[in-house]
Amino acid sequence: MAEVIYIAGARGGSGATTCAVRLASALAALGERTLVLDGDYECASGLETCGLQGLNVYTLADAEEGACRVKQAVLQNPASPNTYVLPTLGLKNPDYCITAVNECSKLFDVILCDGAALGACKRAIVVSAPYSASIASAKLRGARLKDGGIENVGLIINKVNGGLVYDGAVLSPQEFASVVRLPLLGVIPEDLTLPIGKIRPSTARAFDMTAEAVLGRSQKTYGTVKPYLGVTGYFKRKLRAHV
Ligand SMILES: Nc1ncnc2c1ncn2[C@@H]1O[C@H](COP(=O)(O)OP(=O)(O)OP(=O)(O)O)[C@@H](O)[C@H]1O
Ligand SMILES: [Mg+2]
Repeated sequence: MAEVIYIAGARGGSGATTCAVRLASALAALGERTLVLDGDYECASGLETCGLQGLNVYTLADAEEGACRVKQAVLQNPASPNTYVLPTLGLKNPDYCITAVNECSKLFDVILCDGAALGACKRAIVVSAPYSASIASAKLRGARLKDGGIENVGLIINKVNGGLVYDGAVLSPQEFASVVRLPLLGVIPEDLTLPIGKIRPSTARAFDMTAEAVLGRSQKTYGTVKPYLGVTGYFKRKLRAHV
């Protein structure tokens, strides 16, 4: 039976979908057959983030209408073997996601539910940006999930700029996690190649470390400040101050 994890953005645009998709690849690389339930039934943002838009024959909406089986709406991500996505574009009843996840549970090791099928999840991860404006929403997200009966709620801090942490302009990921009072599972650096569908090797490493933490195999998180130390780090920080 799959471990079913709800992925919740602390607020809009925190990177929940990006983290779900990239974490799925990292989990798959560790041998975990992983499904991402793309809970965006209006825009299919999960399908897009996987680079698979237009390649699907069915979505969960077709299964909902009886035009196919749930399994037939699942797509394999050719860029990342062992990773699958279930689009929900056009779905009428969001609760149908719960039925779908339960049906898929035997076929996968991990199912990451991006903003859907909360009722099928035993565990949750809040994805937050590291800025003070996100603290209250991350706290609230965590508290609501716990109030709803999910005891195991972890935190991924995404879009962390190590230069800003070094300068003390934003909280360190560890400080942020302790203020929000959620266990820190992952730290993902700001990576401006992600929005164009690419990923830096250091960001991929950060997701690999997060996957290890999600599986309970390690508690190490990616160090974002390191690239900003030393002589090259000094120039990086100076450059950033001017752009
Ligand atoms: N670590 C990162 N560094 C830089 N940009 C990122 C990072 N993570 C995500 N992004 C970008 O931020 C934008 C929002 O990401 P994403 O769609 O994953 O957020 P979301 O929380 O799922 O949003 P929504 O609230 O609409 O569901 C995208 O353009 C994405 O490429
Ligand atoms: Mg999203």
